[in-house]
This record gives sequence, C-alpha cells and structure tokens, in this order.
Amino acid sequence: MCGIVGYIGNNAVAEELLSGLKSLEYRGYDSSGIALNDNRKIIVFKASGKLSNLNAVLHEKNVEDYSSFMGIGHIRWATHGAPSIENAHPHLSNDGNLVLVHNGIIENYKELRQKLQNQGVVFHSQTDTEAAVHLFAEEYKKCGSLEQAVRNGLPQLKGAFAFVIMHHAESDKIIAVRKNAPLIIGCGKNENYVASDIPALLGKVNHIIHLDDDEMAVVKKNEVIVKYINGQVVQKEMEKVDMAADVISKNGYAHFMLKEICEQPAILRRVIQSHVQNQTIYLDDAKINVDFDKVKKIVIVACGTSLHAALVAKKVWEEWLKLPVQVEAASEFIYQTNLLDENSLVIGVSQSGETADTITALKLAKKYQSQIMVLTNRVDSSIVRYASSIVPLNAGVEISVAATKSYMAQLVAFYWFGLLFAQKLNKISELDWQQKLQILIQLPEKIEEILSHQNDIESIAQRLTRYSAVVFMARGFNLPTAYEAALKLKEISYINANAYPAGELKHGPIALLDKNMPVLALFEQGQNAPKLLSNCEEAKARQAPVIGIGGEKCSDIFNEYIETPEVDACFSPLLLCVPVQLLAYFTAKALNREIDQPRNLAKSVTVE
Ligand code: M6R
Repeated sequence: MCGIVGYIGNNAVAEELLSGLKSLEYRGYDSSGIALNDNRKIIVFKASGKLSNLNAVLHEKNVEDYSSFMGIGHIRWATHGAPSIENAHPHLSNDGNLVLVHNGIIENYKELRQKLQNQGVVFHSQTDTEAAVHLFAEEYKKCGSLEQAVRNGLPQLKGAFAFVIMHHAESDKIIAVRKNAPLIIGCGKNENYVASDIPALLGKVNHIIHLDDDEMAVVKKNEVIVKYINGQVVQKEMEKVDMAADVISKNGYAHFMLKEICEQPAILRRVIQSHVQNQTIYLDDAKINVDFDKVKKIVIVACGTSLHAALVAKKVWEEWLKLPVQVEAASEFIYQTNLLDENSLVIGVSQSGETADTITALKLAKKYQSQIMVLTNRVDSSIVRYASSIVPLNAGVEISVAATKSYMAQLVAFYWFGLLFAQKLNKISELDWQQKLQILIQLPEKIEEILSHQNDIESIAQRLTRYSAVVFMARGFNLPTAYEAALKLKEISYINANAYPAGELKHGPIALLDKNMPVLALFEQGQNAPKLLSNCEEAKARQAPVIGIGGEKCSDIFNEYIETPEVDACFSPLLLCVPVQLLAYFTAKALNREIDQPRNLAKSVTVE
C-alpha cells in the first residue's frame, strides 16, 4: 500500500531509488515518482501506471546527467485521488523547496487543506498527502529548519503515515518519520537508505534500524540519528538483515504466484522438520505467552485470505478444543459489541503484518485486557508490537499479490497450534494426537502429487475462461476453501466467482444457474459427500456445467474432475487449496492477466 524509499550517498541516486521501488512494486503500482536534490534544486520525475513507465521517463529525461547525492521515491496504491500524474508522489511545495513521499492516510486532510487554502496556499492534486507538504513548507518558512518544521507540523496531522522528506537548502539530510505505517533505515558505509520494507534494501546493506511509531530519523550520508517527535534522541539497536537477496527472484517460473504455489511442499517440509522432533511438536521459534488455562473463548480477526485460514481454524479448533471460536473480518470488529475480557484469547492473522484493519482490531482487543497472539509471515512487521505471543509462519517472502504459500503456512500454523493447545488442555488422547501428527507429516508428498497434475488443471482452466461468472460450493471443512477459491479466481482472473455453503444454493443462488454458470464443488471424505453430490445433481439439472474437486471421483455426473489424494476430512483444506490456487493461476494466465500485480490491489493494505 504505497512503497517509499530514500537514498543519500555517492551512488547514482535515481538508479538506487528505482531498484528500491522495483522491490516494493507489490505494495502498489498505480503511479510512481522520484525527487532528486540536485545542487540545491529539487527535481521531480513522475509517471502514472507501472514502474516501467517511470523508467522510460527517466531515460527520456537523461536522469543520469543530474549530479545528485540524495533523493526520495514512491510507488503508489491510490487512496485519495485517481492514479494520475498530478496525484503521483513526490509532492512538492509551491516554492519548489520542500518535497516528500508518504505512505498511509492523513485523516484530517480536508480541514488542513481548507485551513491552508484560507492562507492562500494553492493545491494541485486530490491527494491527502498534499496537505502535509504544504503544512511542512509553511512551518519551514517560520523556523528555517527542516527537522523543526517537521516536528512542528506532525502534531497537526491525524491518521497513519510514514514520510520521507527533503529540503533543497539542507542537502545533507533526509528526514524519515513513522506513525502507524512501516519504515526502516538501511545503514551502509558512506551511504544510508530509507524504505517501507526490507526487500528494497536487499543486497545493499547488511544492517537496518526499525523505526517505531512517533519516531523520526535524521538520515545523513555518514550518520543516522533517531529521535522521538519531541526531539529527544532515542538509542536504537541496529539489526542484521536476515533475508537472502534471491528471495525476490522468480527462479525461472513465469510468475511469482506459480513459484510460490510450487514452494508449498518445501515450506511444509521445512516447518515440519523444525517443529517435530521425537514425535513431539516444538514451536521453538514462536514466542508463546498464553495462559492456556485462562482461555474461555477464542476470537480470530483477519482479512482476505487470512480470514479464510481463520475460518478453517474455527472448524478444526472447535472440534479439537471444544472451545467457542469466533472469527471476524477485522474491518468489522470495531463496529460491533465484542464480549471480550481477560479470559479471551484474541488472535490476529496477517501475512504482511501491516494490515491496518487487523492491527486496529487488535488494539481494541488490548483495551479489554485480552491475551493477544499474532500469526504472521513478517515477524519484523508492525502487528507484532500489539501481541504478547507471536507465531511466525516461516513461508518466506511472498511477492505475488495473491496469497498462496502464506495461506498454506497459516493453515499449518493453526493445525500445529491446535494440536499443542489440545494437548495442554487435555482435550486429545495420545493416540489421536499421534495420528494427527502423522497426517501432517505426510502432507508435502500429497501436495507434490497435486502439483504433478498441473497440465490437467491448466486444460480445465482454459475451458473456464469461456465463462464470466462461476460458483464454488462446499460443505463442512472446505467451505472456507470455497471462499478462498472464489477470492483467488476473482482477484487475478477478474471472473466473478462466488462461494456458498452447498446447502444454501437452493435458498436463492440456484436462480443464477444455467449453461453459462459452472459450479465447482469441493468434496471431502465423510457424511457430507452424498449431500454435496445431490447438490451437484441439482446444478446439473439446471444445465450448469459441474466441476468436482476432491478425492476419488464418486460419480459420472461431472463435466470435469480434479482428483486429489485422499486425506481425513479435517485436514483436507490443506490439500484442496492447492488445485484451486492452480485453477485460478492458469485461468488468469490463459486470459493474459497481470497475475502478480492484479488491478486495483496491493500486497499490504495499510489503510482502513
Ligand atoms: O497481509 P494480510 O494477510 O493481513 O492481508 C490480508 C489481505 O489483504 C490479503 O489476504 C488479500 O486478500 C490477498 N490479496 C489475497 O490473495
């Protein structure tokens, strides 16, 4: 949700900024821009659309001819104002002296804009950000110091922001500020960087400083000083960059999404190896401070794909733990009466750890003294600051906007933790526990078997491109898989996909069915399979093409069938998610979509 970068040092500044932005493209791709401080003059370059457009502009304007030693850059996911050049960052003050890039939302921008306009300030964009640049510029006129101007302006801003700011007259420093939006400083030798996320710094620096909320950094070529917004210096630890430089390579795959889908067995094997020793589960890398005996209710908050993982957890945990598990879309959590107290365990699930809705929900839960746990793929992210227990997903960096391997890692974490929890609460026999563990251990091989049938799934996907809408249905453990399948297909192929409990179809959605509306049914072992088959018959009777996905094919009524290895129903969401990911991927590929960067989306959604 917008990526920002800054560089000060002796390298070619535009190149440094561009390569940083390239690694942050997953955060947005509506427009991009950079600003250089060239001999005490601010020069801004912008382009709408993908970063490649900015690259072309820089090339055309011979950016290499500028002799700058510092600059800032931005890649935008539009919130306020269309994805146009005028709304693209960096935003420049009217005197052309002060320039900034912003990630987040300035909630009181309308009031500020009005106030500044009343003072005669002219605005040029529809963004919330522009209010900040003019505010800081007005403050600068009063005090003549960038650091002081920023310090004076910040208390007047409400909302979430990370800023990187430069002034033409202070060509030795960049100011970086953080409040509820991620920002890190990359510390090099005779050069320093600022970025929204670590991938922008890979291969450039070995050490970073994480800024916390309400901190600002004065970043110079040879020093970084971090201060609270009141000016008091903060002693910050430098952390070693713990991420391989090649994590952001496609490794020969056509898209990151396919690479990430195919990584799933390896991730599972790695997680299993690190968690299971002598038939016992260890969550050594997790920081778990849960008072298990105190937990009377579990609430899980999440968004999008993470929400679907939570819905699987509800079904599995309620069966295993015999405890009520409530799952809420994080964005709705703050609008309802939540019956929370210190006996509640509230779990936030977030791949990125930066999702504003999920963080806000956890902040609210904290007020009720509930125990807070997070499951995240980014233990260096903002969300961990709100939790006393942290379970890392260890899926590796996920670049494709469509979440796949992180979903698998979330599911596995829920199953591990469910087993651990059930054991602590004495809710599971030793035998049952061992059997469940064995099922988990055998999963990577079964997923590999599904992956080996990619060609068959690709052919079905090609036929799916004929339709403009599809329906997914399931019963039992795989209803959340159906929701996830629909989300995946929608977000990358733009085919309208809806998912329903199979029994609900006859209560309304069946009216949609005809020969142009395929129905995809997700089968699991057990008593619900015959009923699901009847629902397929009902769909077929309305001429809908029926595609089955699951264990051994149980009827001839299917137009197409994707067979998956047999597994106990309770664990089947861990398998069935894979064919639906592949189906979405190959459908989008056949339609020639921008698979890794679907329109209107961003990887981390840092606004509510
Ligand atoms: O980083 P998070 O897990 O908190 O992200 C939540 C959703 O924004 C995310 O899952 C989104 O739905 C993905 N595009 C799904 O593929």
